[in-house]
Amino acid sequence: MGYKIAVVNGDGIGEEIVPAGVRVLEATAKKHGLDLEFHEHEWGAGHYLKHGSFMPEGSIEVIQSYDAIFFGAVGLPEVDDRLPFKDFTNKVRTSLKQYVNYRPVKLFRGVESPLRNKTEKDIDFVIIRENNEGEFVQSGRILYPDEPHGMATDTSIFTRKGTEKVAHYAFKLAMKRHKKLTNVTKSNTLIHTLHFWDTVIAEVAENYPEVEYQKMYVDNASASFVLRPECFDVILTTNMIGDILSDLGGAIMGSLGLGGSGNINPEKVYPSMFEPIHGSAPDIKGLNIANPIGQIWSASIMLEHLGEKKAAENMVEAIHRTTSNGRLTKDLGGDATTTEIATRIIDQL
Ligand code: NAI
Ligand code: MG
Repeated sequence: MGYKIAVVNGDGIGEEIVPAGVRVLEATAKKHGLDLEFHEHEWGAGHYLKHGSFMPEGSIEVIQSYDAIFFGAVGLPEVDDRLPFKDFTNKVRTSLKQYVNYRPVKLFRGVESPLRNKTEKDIDFVIIRENNEGEFVQSGRILYPDEPHGMATDTSIFTRKGTEKVAHYAFKLAMKRHKKLTNVTKSNTLIHTLHFWDTVIAEVAENYPEVEYQKMYVDNASASFVLRPECFDVILTTNMIGDILSDLGGAIMGSLGLGGSGNINPEKVYPSMFEPIHGSAPDIKGLNIANPIGQIWSASIMLEHLGEKKAAENMVEAIHRTTSNGRLTKDLGGDATTTEIATRIIDQL
């Protein structure tokens, strides 16, 4: 099959790990007879510094013509850090109705979790983060910032439709996995929005009687990530809680650099976007030491979304084989470079 992929390296280590991911995709395509056509777009904070915007006007229309978007991360220390999310990541996620953020957490063979005595069997779950509304709608104001009576607000918005849609996706996923879904919430203190969220999810749960449904507050869930990750199968949670918990998920896998994700439009009316869970890591950019595995895993999630299951599984297995051979990047205590890991994964395909 042929697919047209928009490639957005973005900033920082994105310029190293995305090309690594594209190399692995090209090798996978060759092996599985896929025809992948890559079109690069130099969008991000670098583009902002040169041209005053994260992407030129009309870019959202341009990316709609692709089958998928393969993305690194955006953000640079020289650029106002309120902009990357507003002007790129969230803009794409909301314009293209990518209302599901799919973020698997699992242990790769040969990678030691910082959690003592936890193995591949214990750390294997998926975070489904609501990706279009909630705490991140950016509805708010700052008033009189320099005055003694200065004030600021941010309002969360949860809609019935938005909550139902992401909940159905999560329960369907649970049906394909171990039939257990945990709603991670904070409705004991956010008594309006998250009470509503819980109520809608409990209604959706009635359509999936085979799925064991439980509710857990995020404070307890954070502790459970560390103490008993084996209690999770599918986690359904809000935009901000999911953002925070997915970094914790990356950490218990051994490194933030291992986490892959998909911003999914399940109806496939719009293209979905695939990116690692971390940011542009400017502290290590240009050193060829960034871990490319989260990016490469995102590539595999992309192929699976496009319907190329065999190729996707092949990529994940090649990652497992590479990590179990003991060559690791610096974040995992090794000294392998970004490019070396990509080459080794290609060799293992
Ligand atoms: P970050 O995720 O970029 O980095 C956090 C820490 O993890 C750093 O010490 C970094 O070196 C390390 N790290 C991250 N990815 C790694 C990898 N692949 N290999 C090895 N080490 C890795 O988060 P931070 O520092 O909070 O943000 C940096 C910039 O990224 C900011 O401008 C922020 O706004 C942006 N950002 C962008 C995102 C996106 O485009 N989706 C998501 C998160 C942050
Ligand atoms: Mg994040």
